Amino acid sequence: FTQFRLFQTASMQSKAKLTSKIAIVGAGEVGSTIAYSLILNPITGDVLLIDPKTEVRDAQAQDLSDATYHGNTSTRVRAADSKEAGQCDIVVITAGAAQKEGESRTDLIGRNLKILKSAIDECKPFRDDAVLLIVANPVDVLTHFAQEFSGVPKSQVFGSGTFLDSVRLRGILANKSGVAASSIDAYVLGEHGDSQFVAWSQASIGGVPLSEIVKDSEVEINKNEIAEETKKKAASIMQAKGATAYGIGGVAASICKSILFDQRNIRPVSHWQEELGVCLSMPAVIGREGIVRTIPIRLDDEERKNLEGSVKSLKEVIEEAKK
Ligand code: LAC
Repeated sequence: FTQFRLFQTASMQSKAKLTSKIAIVGAGEVGSTIAYSLILNPITGDVLLIDPKTEVRDAQAQDLSDATYHGNTSTRVRAADSKEAGQCDIVVITAGAAQKEGESRTDLIGRNLKILKSAIDECKPFRDDAVLLIVANPVDVLTHFAQEFSGVPKSQVFGSGTFLDSVRLRGILANKSGVAASSIDAYVLGEHGDSQFVAWSQASIGGVPLSEIVKDSEVEINKNEIAEETKKKAASIMQAKGATAYGIGGVAASICKSILFDQRNIRPVSHWQEELGVCLSMPAVIGREGIVRTIPIRLDDEERKNLEGSVKSLKEVIEEAKK
């Protein structure tokens, strides 16, 4: 079976690189950074940029194309209309206002819900196996509504969620422990926002529970401090440079690779939680079909309480948005 799986993945990869298409709706800083990341790590034949501001869209496509002519990439970038987006393998939705200084991601819901609805309506009809990746904020709430507006099966509509926060957390733990971030297993879960929480009870380094590592070594881990530093990282970057782009650009491109190559990576992404009645981030297996399945991570009492906090705050925003 393994041989077959290896062959299947390899042939999927070469096929995807040539024939697949990824549409990026929103050609602003985040959308163009995702496109650039997809050029540098070629996984698809065509990246289509969609944006009602056609002058910006065309200029971004021109500029990004100049990064494809040196010959190290198989990816082509071009400007396109929404109608083409629905027929792409993946539709990444970044369209929306970005946070201003002092604004929370949730403050964006009024503006960004309208943009989401019109973006999705203009992309319809979606091909049966299209996967919609929501990146715009507030990502958990927009993912919830994108499932409603698109009519696409819930498992094919999910958001980047706390994958970026988890990457930030692993970076901080890597610096403190002198271990590569890729050898650190630690999740930020729940809302990609103020009510997010770290699943410390499940965190491990090289497969050894973090609690044991800290006990047996001089590695200093102040959990509250690290969780706050992770949560506040986006705001501190925005304060200095206005917006984030590279972190979310790399994360979104990595999710596209998991989808297109059917990699079955486990990532904390925002997706429908049947028993909670909202979309929020829990570890999930990601493949060509979108969310393959949620991993039933075990949470301790405090983490479960934090999860309930995320559910409560997300439901409040959703109810408010429906008014
Ligand atoms: C951030 C944005 C993507 O966390 O919400 O950088």
